[in-house]
Amino acid sequence: MTNNKTPRHFLDIHDHSVAELREMLGRAAFMKRGQGAERPLLGKTLALIFEKPSTRTRVSFEVGMRQLGGEVICLTGKEIQLGHGETIGDTARVLSRYVDIIMLRTDHEAKLQEMAEAATVPVINGLTDSSHPVQIMADILTYEERKGPIEEAVVCWTGDANNVCESWVHAAGLFGFEMRIACPPELTPSQQTLDWIKEKGARVSIHRDVETAVAGVDAIITDTWVSMHNKDAHRRHNLLKPYQVNDRIMGLAKKDAIFMHCLPAHREEEVTSSVIDGPQSAVWDEAENRMHAQKGILTWCLNR
Ligand code: CP
Repeated sequence: MTNNKTPRHFLDIHDHSVAELREMLGRAAFMKRGQGAERPLLGKTLALIFEKPSTRTRVSFEVGMRQLGGEVICLTGKEIQLGHGETIGDTARVLSRYVDIIMLRTDHEAKLQEMAEAATVPVINGLTDSSHPVQIMADILTYEERKGPIEEAVVCWTGDANNVCESWVHAAGLFGFEMRIACPPELTPSQQTLDWIKEKGARVSIHRDVETAVAGVDAIITDTWVSMHNKDAHRRHNLLKPYQVNDRIMGLAKKDAIFMHCLPAHREEEVTSSVIDGPQSAVWDEAENRMHAQKGILTWCLNR
């Protein structure tokens, strides 16, 4: 499809104003309650491109788009010419003539930027090695359902300060909540993110001692110790052992604190089964909310 207007991309949390993010979250909550137009994306087609594996992102985008009345095409990098030498830009130009919106899961952020610059339809970031903004939208929706306004939250990320952590940092800076990151010096946020925290005056602090960091927080968040692009599993396991979320660590947070994890989880590594299956766990709501949050993002991008 072609149009003359600049597409409404969703590439990163901090590309948007709080008002825009609130509009997307409001749409998500509204649709989750069964309110709103019947099939607002009838006649629209979403292309999903995966250069990395996925369960939640693929299924939640597919089912969500169908619930909105639209169609979905799911492509993996290897089965299309993108995986055989065609450029991202040319792929974007061609797909823009067929579909109304594109979601890309890839490795380098630069590939996402190249797709967004060449596409004439909106592009959504479905994860890169340095960000996962659709996940954080689902996480905010989940936090607010359980605990109230995110602006009043104190959250602790423990473990590898990875792509999901970096997007949480951007949310903290925008919404103004307090975020503590407990991580080893080797797996600290990127220099670019540390500079951003300083520049924006975000209430984000870095800790080496997990017990200090989780004291009295509203939510403890973690993620797998070995992400899809990491090759040093053994080293990471040794570095991250002290940052495991277990009953003792949950006991240091507020009594009504929640446990969050974007999944997939590696039980008994970054989190014990007693926590992920326990009464404070919000992880299944987070997984469900991927679909609702993305419905809010899809309708916002397409202005429907
Ligand atoms: N949380 C998340 O993005 O899950 P998938 O890798 O299964 O899509």
